[in-house]
Amino acid sequence: MGGILDVRALAPKDRHAGIFGAFKDLAPGDYFVLVNDHDPKPLLYQFQAEHDNEFEWWPLERGTEVWRVIIAKREAKDTHRTVTDYLQTDHRRLDAIFERFSRAVKDGRWEEASKDFREFSLGLKRHIGVEEEILFPVFEEKTGMKDSGPTFVMREEHKDIKALLDSILSGTDAKNPAAVAKGMSALTNTLGDHNMKEEQILYPESDHFLSDAERSDVIKRAQAA
Ligand SMILES: [Fe+2]
Ligand SMILES: [Fe+2]
Repeated sequence: MGGILDVRALAPKDRHAGIFGAFKDLAPGDYFVLVNDHDPKPLLYQFQAEHDNEFEWWPLERGTEVWRVIIAKREAKDTHRTVTDYLQTDHRRLDAIFERFSRAVKDGRWEEASKDFREFSLGLKRHIGVEEEILFPVFEEKTGMKDSGPTFVMREEHKDIKALLDSILSGTDAKNPAAVAKGMSALTNTLGDHNMKEEQILYPESDHFLSDAERSDVIKRAQAA
């Protein structure tokens, strides 16, 4: 479970075959972390073309030299995937990283805490970007609610969340338990409520307005974000 597939040592022409082979061998629900030396976007497009609805794609690191992304095999191979399912899965995934980060902080394992929080922050900022740039515009267009509806409120909360992410990261890098604890409690409060509103209202409403093809398009664009 959760092995690492580092393809940097392989000849570029052999990489995709190795990756699809590893994906084929995954049990449903299992994943590996792909490590590569460039943005693996062409690989994502190949996954979307050949394994639509069968995989998850979650970037962990986007460096100048190292790129890491989780490639998972979904348990359910449903062809009618909803936006709610996709974004809710990302909330749960991020919650688990945050949990790992909290334990590392509690144990004073600052190196790990800092690595975990970088993954969390990258993942959550990406998730927020997906909502603001892909999902919310669709919702706003379908409902005509832009400056006063739920997406307006969510966008305001995103600003607070992003500020908290930056303050927790600097507290973690400075190994400052008090600053980190303060940021964590503020973030937990804000995010719990925020995610609940999205999962109970905004995402299901969006699914309601969208056709199957539009939902699939939103998910594909989200994966590539
Ligand atoms: Fe959000
Ligand atoms: Fe969200």
